[in-house]
Amino acid sequence: MAHLVDEISLGAIVQVRDRLLEQQRLGRKVLRLESGDPSFDIPVHVREAIEKALRDGHTHYTASTGIPALREAIFRKITFENGLHVPNPDHIVVTNGAMHGLYVIFRALLDPGDEVILPDPMWTEIGEHIRLAGGFPRPVRLRAENDYLWQIEEVKAAVGPRTRAIYINTPHNPTGAVLRREHLQALVDLAVQHNLMLVSDEAYEHVLFDGERHVSIGSLDGAQERTISVFSMSKTYAMSGLRLGYVIIPQPFLLERLKKLVRCTINGVNSITQYGALAALTGPQDATQAMAAEYQKRRDILFAALERSPYVRAFKPKGAFYLWARITEDWPGYGGQRDDWSMTNYLIDSAGIGSSPGSAFGAAGEGHIRFAFSCSTEQIEEAAMLLPEVLRRA
Ligand SMILES: Cc1ncc(COP(=O)(O)O)c(C=O)c1O
Repeated sequence: MAHLVDEISLGAIVQVRDRLLEQQRLGRKVLRLESGDPSFDIPVHVREAIEKALRDGHTHYTASTGIPALREAIFRKITFENGLHVPNPDHIVVTNGAMHGLYVIFRALLDPGDEVILPDPMWTEIGEHIRLAGGFPRPVRLRAENDYLWQIEEVKAAVGPRTRAIYINTPHNPTGAVLRREHLQALVDLAVQHNLMLVSDEAYEHVLFDGERHVSIGSLDGAQERTISVFSMSKTYAMSGLRLGYVIIPQPFLLERLKKLVRCTINGVNSITQYGALAALTGPQDATQAMAAEYQKRRDILFAALERSPYVRAFKPKGAFYLWARITEDWPGYGGQRDDWSMTNYLIDSAGIGSSPGSAFGAAGEGHIRFAFSCSTEQIEEAAMLLPEVLRRA
């Protein structure tokens, strides 16, 4: 029998990135639309706080779940902004990015054989975290005709005797769909009915377009006791490489497990990063708003280009920084293949444009392609100029 970890892939997006970087090394211009890393620098006051922390000698082990000042700042943010209610900052665990937060959440929550309902398509790491915890992902399809919003009847039909939790991600990677209050409340009601936990991934809570608003599912009636919420500093403050996320965990027994897992995996996030995160959360928020406005501009440029291109039908995202498109039946293919990888390969080889093949996001992603617009506006403009023509030549 294969080792559990052997069943985890190295990641399609990593493969695309490595090929683009190799082409770049050979002197070719590449456009980095394959992965979701904000192009922006961190806000100046965050950089200054990091420099100061270094000068002040904050380079020692910290409290394993995060420095108290940061957990207090998070406590205020989640209380007043997200409407989440936990008794005190002890219910907050600072993690090495939301990625690590999700890993420890599923490890703490699942018993071997437990199932977790999750959207299909979905950011690949989620299913892998569930499997690493001994559980089984139970995908429920998101459909273009429903604007990639879950139909509650389909979620209900997926609930079985081993279902332990529903994983929710809004704004959603890879489609950019945003769940409204009524969708979320229906999921809460279902969770209450079947005694399920809710794991809410809110990594893109501040990347919203067209006046869309973010609702934290844990703030809704009946949700508080059964929701674990995870947030990220990566997208909101462009702090992706600094690696900081946080988990809000109301349930005392899970909190104890999480504390143990954090101690055994990282024993505290990088001390300097924690001071940066404190400055980010307590300082001016205008950089975050400016970034969201710039993402919207990029979305509009890229969406317009895809509308002018053959072989793709794009969905206009309401949040996150991804454009999800269906590859149409008349796609002639490339390299003897007609699948989603063939379009990704064609765009790399013919124009140095990065993308992610939809199948990387689950069975429902087959025959789709994802373009990230978190790279610079110049790169997006160039890709938008090239895409219609390059696809026409296919
Ligand atoms: C849906 C989703 N959740 C979580 C993360 C992880 O973010 P972090 O950088 O905080 O680990 C990502 C990163 O792309 C994501 O797309």
